[in-house]
Amino acid sequence: MPEEPWTILKLLQRTTRYFKDKGVAEPRASAEILLAHILSQDRLFLYLNHDRPMEPEELSTYRACVRRRVAGEPIQYITGFQEFWSLAIRVSPDVLIPRRETELLVDIVLDSVRQSRDTENSLTIIDLGTGSGAISIALALELPGTRIIAVDLSLPALKLARENVRKHQVEKQIHFVCGDMLTAMGDQNQMVQVIVTNPPYVGHTEMQQLPREIRDFEPRHALDGGLDGLSAISQIIKEAPSVLGPGGKLIMEMGAGQSESVSSLVVNSQKYLDFRIFKDYSGIERVLVAKKA
Ligand SMILES: C[S@@+](CC[C@H](N)C(=O)[O-])C[C@H]1O[C@@H](n2cnc3c(N)ncnc32)[C@H](O)[C@@H]1O
Repeated sequence: MPEEPWTILKLLQRTTRYFKDKGVAEPRASAEILLAHILSQDRLFLYLNHDRPMEPEELSTYRACVRRRVAGEPIQYITGFQEFWSLAIRVSPDVLIPRRETELLVDIVLDSVRQSRDTENSLTIIDLGTGSGAISIALALELPGTRIIAVDLSLPALKLARENVRKHQVEKQIHFVCGDMLTAMGDQNQMVQVIVTNPPYVGHTEMQQLPREIRDFEPRHALDGGLDGLSAISQIIKEAPSVLGPGGKLIMEMGAGQSESVSSLVVNSQKYLDFRIFKDYSGIERVLVAKKA
């Protein structure tokens, strides 16, 4: 008797069970995302085509994706995309997968720019540690008159960020700099109104405790904040005032439990007029806004 063909529904049911057995998070959704990806369709297509038989090449591509997911690889590296600020951002193992809580940085920058007396056209923003370019692109689309300097130490990250910038057609606004923190800006540039940054802030002990998906797959240079997690953060707090113009703002993401240390670093630097810490959507103190004196 000929074997019954693998239909979309049968494959989804089987994969969901397999993912559940292997402890993969959100098994049904993961199975659907991977299948939609290899069929170059959206998830609704799967529901409307439950009985569609799979071609042999589709089956083997899908099974390879399923194996990668079971081995711990984040689904975003398999599909090559992550949604950020409702934009499809291309990702690869060269860059951090942009996180939902980082959208708060974009929100705060937008509020801050809209409240300031500077006109949008005269604004320069530095996105320090741009990674995939997600923050820069969201800001460029929301603030079309603004100039953004996207900095990263990683050339492969900048290459991908450039690709994303082209895809979202904001090349005219975003300029790339490969460099170590703010050194590439020199001391002379006091024309920057905002530095926005999501720096590496995971401490070494915490690094060991991260889920395998993050620890073994996301780039270490995007996560490693030194022994206590504060080495990039403290360097930025120290260097930002020489790059910001008067009244300019440092808007920086931090890790859970770091707000007290971050506050002390700001106060001890004696270079800021005032500062505030904002909580994220889960109630964790997450973003520093420090205004240069
Ligand atoms: C936590 S990731 C943030 C990426 C992106 N902004 C996001 O939110 O998805 C930190 C980024 O900082 C970059 N980075 C690490 N050390 C750096 C340094 N010394 N100078 C410039 N960039 C650095 C990493 O390559 C990485 O892209």
